[in-house]
Amino acid sequence: MASVWKDNKILKKWYKKRCLDFFDGNFNFNLTDLMSDPLLDAISKDIGVNKEYIYLGAGISQFIGVILSMDCWKNIYIPSIEFGLYLRQGEKLDKKLIKVPSSSLEEILTNLKKYKTSENDLLCVSSPRWFDGEMLSKEQLNMLLESFKGTIVIDEAYVDYSSNEKGLLNECLNNERIILLRSFSKKYFAAGLRVGYLVTTKSIEGLRNTLIPPHSISTFSANLSISLLNDKDVVELFSNTRNYVRKNRDTLYEYLKNNARFEARESQANFLTLQFSSRDELEKTFNDLKGLPGIQKFEIDNTLFLKIWISDARFSNVVLTRING
Ligand SMILES: Cc1ncc(COP(=O)(O)O)c(C=O)c1O
Repeated sequence: MASVWKDNKILKKWYKKRCLDFFDGNFNFNLTDLMSDPLLDAISKDIGVNKEYIYLGAGISQFIGVILSMDCWKNIYIPSIEFGLYLRQGEKLDKKLIKVPSSSLEEILTNLKKYKTSENDLLCVSSPRWFDGEMLSKEQLNMLLESFKGTIVIDEAYVDYSSNEKGLLNECLNNERIILLRSFSKKYFAAGLRVGYLVTTKSIEGLRNTLIPPHSISTFSANLSISLLNDKDVVELFSNTRNYVRKNRDTLYEYLKNNARFEARESQANFLTLQFSSRDELEKTFNDLKGLPGIQKFEIDNTLFLKIWISDARFSNVVLTRING
């Protein structure tokens, strides 16, 4: 699926034309007023949010670095199993980093109650989760806001594969303790474009100037993204592709959920996680899947798991055949 840009004839023609249009030899960038950034306008229109609350960046990765390193936080809380950049960035900082045991969102909620948190603390959690695609419900978010007193970064990199693509956007707009992160990387199969955005009503001093264009998003990526968002057919093409991924994910899950060798986690993301209690079983299954694209093996915080990145139905069949011997 990662090659949808190359495999789909319509899309291939579409972007080739844009490549010619946007690589026009004019690589100057003169945006004097940050609020009149045309990509900001396009994203604001796309998600129906006032642009004053939206910040653009080179993917969520840039926001992780920028947000975590802000002086205003006292302690930073990160689930022990989380997208690796959070821990890597957090460990570099001269701040207290607290790893919260996190085999499920329920466990995160329970464990957070043990800490005395303050309004200057920061918690980062992905939803759907990077670990297994579990999604934070509105009720869980309310419980989190109740027990955790600081600001919560919710990383929605995978939200477009969930059954609720709006995710926690409304909750974010109604509570300035929430910072939402979104990306074009998974939604449009375009990690290489490096386009992401942050939504918050919280006023964070210096944030917009830290991310000032063109230091973050290249003019080519910005132009291509605007063009994409304004093209209903292309937007629909990606929406259909994501629906296909969802369907393949859910079918594969049905076939794997009763396998005694591992626990298949029900996922709202574009991958399935298989959790193992024995290292031998993990190695054996990983070996069965050897050579296939999109298979990753992890051991984090004593949790053994494989991630299978969902692709087409043929890929799912090969996975099943190999696992079932
Ligand atoms: C949970 C999560 N957040 C962020 C990212 C990175 O996103 P971006 O490509 O927008 O930097 C990833 C990439 O795998 C991810 O899994």
